[in-house]
Amino acid sequence: MQFATILYTLSMLLVCAFSAPLERRQETVSNVKCTSKTPLDFHTSNVALLQICGGIAGSIQKCQGLPTSTTGQSGNVRFTITPVVEGDQINISKGRWEQGIKAAFAVCGQNIPFTATFTGGAVKGDVNVVYEAV
Ligand SMILES: *[C@@H]1O[C@H](CO)[C@@H](O)[C@H](O)[C@H]1NC(C)=O
Repeated sequence: MQFATILYTLSMLLVCAFSAPLERRQETVSNVKCTSKTPLDFHTSNVALLQICGGIAGSIQKCQGLPTSTTGQSGNVRFTITPVVEGDQINISKGRWEQGIKAAFAVCGQNIPFTATFTGGAVKGDVNVVYEAV
């Protein structure tokens, strides 16, 4: 390989490594507390997380109807979303919701119950999220 080719390959690798995470607009989570050591069922959790706001499965891309709180439950798995600002309305896209859950799992472990604050999931402010067995 020519030097220029090597340089080009290296620079493309660097561009890919650094641009991908920036483009995704990661949902940020804070106050993550891991509330159990026992992971919940993966499939049941994936169903439960799509039950928030009366259902966000399929082509629905965000929480519908601006609720003041909501739960998503399947079997013994429940997600609860409550705005941090009292009386605020939940307005979170499916993408940000799923990113926030992933970010909390990155801290606690896959499917480990948690409580956390997701940035900007409501009209005025953030939302508190609980993921638990019921
Ligand atoms: C809800 O969020 C969307 C962006 O995802 C925004 O366009 C819309 O204005 C928000 N609704 C309210 C009532 O703030």
